[in-house]
Amino acid sequence: LSPQDLAGETVLVTAGPTREELDPVRYLSNYSSGKMGYAIARAARRRGARVILVSGPTALAAPVGIELVPVTSARQMREAVLQRLEEATVVIKAAAVADYRPAMRAEQKIKKGLEGSLILPLEKNPDILAELGSRKGNRLLVGFAAETADLLENARKKLTEKNLDLIVANDVSRSDAGFDVDTNAVRLLYRDGSGEELPLLGKDEVADQLLDRIARLLKPSL
Ligand code: PMT
Repeated sequence: LSPQDLAGETVLVTAGPTREELDPVRYLSNYSSGKMGYAIARAARRRGARVILVSGPTALAAPVGIELVPVTSARQMREAVLQRLEEATVVIKAAAVADYRPAMRAEQKIKKGLEGSLILPLEKNPDILAELGSRKGNRLLVGFAAETADLLENARKKLTEKNLDLIVANDVSRSDAGFDVDTNAVRLLYRDGSGEELPLLGKDEVADQLLDRIARLLKPSL
């Protein structure tokens, strides 16, 4: 039986990739499968929370008992998250949001030209997590950092700059961790400068370990 230590909480989770359309048949995206975020959403539900899952396009089944809000682009994800923010007592941002989108979406399929190359201007997407950090209120804010180099340094920078309570530092250079696999290897870094390393675990187990820490941050007396 799962502990009901998140009863009374509303947990807003983001998962999956975003897709940034280039024309009617093409997009920019990344390898996120949504597995990590969906595992967190399911575990939070098992532990008694009300869960809202804002998800980019994935091949995963909608988890039972969870409010699923499907989105495609980073800008749609931002809208969906901001719309539900007031209800959330905890936000966990496991989604891999595209940092850039094509500056223009072509109305028609882009045709092959005569030149050997095509230059695509990109525009910066909004940083949803940074925006949440700037209007944090009392809610607990948890981010992920997917890094291929200088993991701890980069993750700690994101923790501070985005005003988070906890960041999950994800070394995505390993083939058994990060994008599109069933296991993950993460370090948890806290606001007070402390941190801990979890061993290689299934994503369901990573989710429960993460929620153990979150439950403790919410109720330090437990
Ligand atoms: O989905 P899976 O296949 O299971 O893979 C899991 C995962 C690797 C996607 C996941 O564990 C993970 O690391 N997610 C974060 C991926 C990411 O985009 O990291 P980042 O370091 O680029 O972003 C840092 C944080 O800011 C993230 O919480 C991200 O959701 C958020 N962000 C980033 C950019 C942006 N424009 N808006 C954001 O909110």
